[in-house]
Amino acid sequence: MNNEACIIQLPKFCDSRGNLSVIEQGGALPFEIARTYWIYDVPGGERRGGHAYIRNRELMVALSGSFEVLVDDGLGNSRTFRLSRSYYGLYIPAGLWREMRDFSTNAVAMILASEPYDRADYIENFRQFRQYAREQAGKRP
Ligand code: TYD
Repeated sequence: MNNEACIIQLPKFCDSRGNLSVIEQGGALPFEIARTYWIYDVPGGERRGGHAYIRNRELMVALSGSFEVLVDDGLGNSRTFRLSRSYYGLYIPAGLWREMRDFSTNAVAMILASEPYDRADYIENFRQFRQYAREQAGKRP
């Protein structure tokens, strides 16, 4: 897959009082944070985020519980990641389709985003996304 999504391991400080993890600007994160949002109280069986972004890049962290993220490049390659540990972040570059699903009870997904919220940055139709992905691939050397 071009422009691949990947798991980034975050620092984890464990002692008898419990664990602490951190994401710091200039650290493991490959972009500057413009926005943070979180998804919670997802009813069983619901799916979120069936779309791609043109510019926005994201890091997803399961702060609590677990969920699955399907990532698809629109060119026939897809991968599924299960996030269940709050010291792992899933980095998703721009230009990839993503869908979050199979949320456990009490799952909390925290998402750090590189861009402010802008609906014009979304591609919400998979067929249009495939067309966009092919055009983008055609522009690459
Ligand atoms: P939506 O894009 O449907 O969520 P998901 O990608 O998880 O399926 O967003 C749900 C609502 O929240 C929608 O009305 C837009 C709003 N929203 C914001 O106002 N700001 C944001 O940063 C995000 C991500 C969503």
